[in-house]
Amino acid sequence: MTMSMMEIEKALKQLRLSGVRATLETRIVESQAANLSFLETFSLILQDELDRRHSRLLERRYQGSCLSERVSLDDFDWGYNPKIPKRTCFELHTLKFLREGDNAVLIGPPGTGKSHVAKAIAYAAVRQGYRVLYAEADELLGQLVEAEGAERRKVFVAALEADLLVLDDLFLARRIGPEAADQLQALVHKRYKHRRSMLITSNRIVSDWEKYLGDAALTTTILDRLMHRAVLGEFAGRSYRLKEAAGRLARRVHTG
Ligand SMILES: Nc1ncnc2c1ncn2[C@@H]1O[C@H](COP(=O)(O)OP(=O)(O)OP(=O)(O)O)[C@@H](O)[C@H]1O
Ligand SMILES: [Mg+2]
Repeated sequence: MTMSMMEIEKALKQLRLSGVRATLETRIVESQAANLSFLETFSLILQDELDRRHSRLLERRYQGSCLSERVSLDDFDWGYNPKIPKRTCFELHTLKFLREGDNAVLIGPPGTGKSHVAKAIAYAAVRQGYRVLYAEADELLGQLVEAEGAERRKVFVAALEADLLVLDDLFLARRIGPEAADQLQALVHKRYKHRRSMLITSNRIVSDWEKYLGDAALTTTILDRLMHRAVLGEFAGRSYRLKEAAGRLARRVHTG
């Protein structure tokens, strides 16, 4: 028995085949106009469903990543700070480090683009279908310290289970408290054990980390695991924020 279009629509809805629903009418017309075989038409319809599911998955991954902007390496001005490790950034952007469960640490002065590059790498990972969690380090560690019981566990498990955890701007607020340092240590330790990648950015040089963690043994424990299999990108140069601020000022003087 042939179904009417309305019945087909209803069945597709029931089966949650929204990709097929969206394009079916076009595909029917196309199939008749181009005289396609049943198999050719069926493949196209199946592909529509796969495409729709894939793009929905990527959208869910993006929403779940907590990234607030979709940045890329294309909108980065590589000429501004020629000492930025461009090759390392592009190498990280291939996500080889993530496939191998290695870490990445981007260190350098404020405003040189570490967070920008980290977000671009994180977004590339989202587009590849990885589960990414992007967090400003102080915020995540703060949540882990302040939350209690089940809530703390939930935040910790989310940070532990992501394929890629980005801790942006570590030690921005200088010294972190002993409880936050313990949480950081636990995260680094567990992720290392499961060989899950972390991407950390900081404008504090690694030799100063002990000062911000407040404990020599803890610092060694963290650095040991973090750096065992890690790509290190050392940024250098002038702050892009100052360039943008100077540009704004110049425009104001000019127009004012
Ligand atoms: N070379 C660049 N080309 C284009 N935009 C840049 C460049 N460097 C930095 N920016 C922009 O300048 C701003 C500051 O950069 P970003 O936050 O990445 O710096 P950062 O190295 O993380 O600094 P901080 O150590 O203070 O966190 C961002 O809006 C970023 O997109
Ligand atoms: Mg930053």
